[in-house]
Amino acid sequence: MQRLFLKKWLFFLIFLSNSSFFYGDETTEEKKYKIGLCIMATGRYVHFAEQLIESGRKYFLTNHDVTYFVFTDNRINQEKDVVVIPQKRLGWPYDTMMRFEVYFKNKNLLQEMDYLFASDADMLFVAPIGEEILGPLVGTVHPGYVGRRGTYEVNPYSKAFVRADEGQIYFAGGFYGGDREHFFTLIDHNQKMIQEDLSKGIIPLWHDESHLNRYFLDHQPSIVLSPSYCYPESLNLPYPKKLLALDKNHAELRKRK
Ligand code: GAL
Ligand code: GAL
Ligand code: MN
Repeated sequence: MQRLFLKKWLFFLIFLSNSSFFYGDETTEEKKYKIGLCIMATGRYVHFAEQLIESGRKYFLTNHDVTYFVFTDNRINQEKDVVVIPQKRLGWPYDTMMRFEVYFKNKNLLQEMDYLFASDADMLFVAPIGEEILGPLVGTVHPGYVGRRGTYEVNPYSKAFVRADEGQIYFAGGFYGGDREHFFTLIDHNQKMIQEDLSKGIIPLWHDESHLNRYFLDHQPSIVLSPSYCYPESLNLPYPKKLLALDKNHAELRKRK
């Protein structure tokens, strides 16, 4: 009887020593998240994707498990952290504008991620990016429109339309994200709006970026990143360089191979 009693106490002590009672609730070790980065890299953009991934391994959320989801019609150096999803070229501007829909159609591949981000392919990480970008909904201020009104869609028939009395921050289409649920809601909503526009023959001025801006006006991002996270390579801005938007000859790249 007494021995049983002691045994119980012993178990209780062991239980306590394993619980937060002794260690406190805050563990010193940071939580490791599964992070997905979606990269549309059809045609010649695949070379940019390879560079981007290499730079990401050096600088992008390196304390976490990052998976690079590359949508391409090309071959790519495939390592363990890269998932390749076959994607046909749709032609300009559909390659960029249909990205929400393409990501959404591949939801099942992305659903194990805790956080999801999307970036242009022609970008490069040049400094550490960490937990500061982890939040429910994350947008990046467009480098060309800091503190001034951006190029929102002006066609009132478009689902991306922004009234003259609306709009403050203009966001870049080149880098955004959030936790899985918010990211899925964003891409689902935007793909629907784009389909609706397309059914009426409407394509807004800056394609996916126009729809993203309408969305962010209606769903304020919890984290607004500075243009450090979409920093045009050849400009000189008063921000530290973190994620560069590379200079390129757009017309040349958009040509069919
Ligand atoms: C471009 C975009 C690139 C890539 C391409 C489609 O507009 O800037 O990052 O997504 O479309 O492959
Ligand atoms: C340009 C950029 C475009 C689009 C536009 C918005 O500088 O190259 O992709 O974001 O600004 O006005
Ligand atoms: Mn770009």
